[in-house]
Amino acid sequence: MPASKEILLADSSSTATMPKISKQTDFQLVRIKNTWCRIKKGEPVHDSEDKITASQAKITEVISGGEISWTIEAPIYFCYKVVETCSLLDPSNQTLLYGHIRESGELEKALNNKETQRRFIVIDKTVNELYGSIVRKYFDDNYVQYKILSLPTIEENKSIDMVLDILQEVQSFGLDRRTEPIIAIGGGTCLDIVGLAASLYRRRTPYIRVPTTLLSYVDASVGAKNGVNFLQCKNKLGSYVPPIATFLDRIFIQTIPRQHISNGLGEILKMALMKHKCLFDLLKTHGKFLLDTKFQSHNGLVDHGDAALKTTRIAIETMLEELAPNLWEDDLNRLVDFGHLISPELEMRALPSLMHGEAVNVDMAFMTYVSYVKGLLNEMEKIQIIQCMSSLELPVWHKECTWHLIKKALTERLKHSAGQMRMPLPTGLGTADIFNDISEETLERAYTLWTNECRPISMRS
Ligand SMILES: NC(=O)c1ccc[n+]([C@@H]2O[C@H](COP(=O)([O-])OP(=O)(O)OC[C@H]3O[C@@H](n4cnc5c(N)ncnc54)[C@H](O)[C@@H]3O)[C@@H](O)[C@H]2O)c1
Ligand SMILES: [Zn+2]
Repeated sequence: MPASKEILLADSSSTATMPKISKQTDFQLVRIKNTWCRIKKGEPVHDSEDKITASQAKITEVISGGEISWTIEAPIYFCYKVVETCSLLDPSNQTLLYGHIRESGELEKALNNKETQRRFIVIDKTVNELYGSIVRKYFDDNYVQYKILSLPTIEENKSIDMVLDILQEVQSFGLDRRTEPIIAIGGGTCLDIVGLAASLYRRRTPYIRVPTTLLSYVDASVGAKNGVNFLQCKNKLGSYVPPIATFLDRIFIQTIPRQHISNGLGEILKMALMKHKCLFDLLKTHGKFLLDTKFQSHNGLVDHGDAALKTTRIAIETMLEELAPNLWEDDLNRLVDFGHLISPELEMRALPSLMHGEAVNVDMAFMTYVSYVKGLLNEMEKIQIIQCMSSLELPVWHKECTWHLIKKALTERLKHSAGQMRMPLPTGLGTADIFNDISEETLERAYTLWTNECRPISMRS
């Protein structure tokens, strides 16, 4: 490839009779000593013995007529850890304090300065009531100087006001953004709010997620997204900034109400239906057991093996497979959007009676019927899916999910999908594809059948 090329371009916007001459030059960027320099692509870098670092960024310069433009391509690199651990709040477990550090030199420095560690922690109010004293003991025993901010981080409070409240406290605590990550301990709502606050503070302050609900354990914790609701719209303000680390400990899940276990099971079922037949079978076989035991490990129970460990691990692995190559959601063809086409509208409408994973499940139940009507699923598969949902104590229908709401939600969705409806649909148990050719007639037929069959089930439960 030549480094620069002269191209004759017929410029339609120009009134001149002669076409403009454009000259394009591609530059790479290298650091020599402490200065970044642009070097024509392909040209050798002449220099001394100094260490030369090449950037992956590129600058393309185009001179055309009397004008010049530069196009900058700069890949942004993210690295974050998702760590499954036990006894996260045992003072001898150093994960919460140091588990995010990847460089051994940095770790050594931090461990040598244990007494000077500082942390700002935001904790959900209910979680604080249950675990606050253990959290305090953890930091006290590790000689950390800390501030714990306990907030009612529930869906109704998921707003920019709460983000600003957090930021005021962060500012008065005086964080060192290089070495003192903000720690969020709570459900998905807490993690989303704190994630947004951290991404705003000094443009991007590292933060750590400690999920305490099943849904946040398998879903809200593992990706890059954060956000708050705005003008009655779900997660309208937010950013794609992953935490530096997520620390998973299933112990917290033992105190969440049974309905919240179902809520999390909704997101696990999503991954099962989209891409993992074994996960679907695990849910079918052990769903009730997992609900009864709240995802705590019971190694002694041979029949169930360690179903809690297996299901959560597969759910996270499958989720990471789909999220990691598409952290900024540039690719609109996303299987993880299954259950998330209609549910945002439904969730906002039915608050607070319907939780996120429940709204997702209502959406998935309807979409199961869309698949069935389109001939992608057979009768037995459709029945198995709806039965599995019921056994996980998830709603399979909801009165607020009217035909009008479905149409409105899909229209809204279309606006944000580059004008093309991309609908992830199951094509079997554990297989799926994305469709853009679902007619309104198919949707309407599915809606009628779904209502006829699933409304009575929802009345019984
Ligand atoms: N960022 C993402 O990728 C992503 C993914 C999925 C969901 N979400 C968001 O997550 C939110 C839902 O999260 P959620 O289902 O975890 O609910 P939640 O965070 O609203 O928590 C639900 C309730 O459980 C309580 N709670 C939390 N942990 C507890 C514990 N260990 N014991 C007892 N009670 C506890 C909370 O106080 C709250 O009242 C939604 O706002 C959704 O938009 C985000
Ligand atoms: Zn979700």
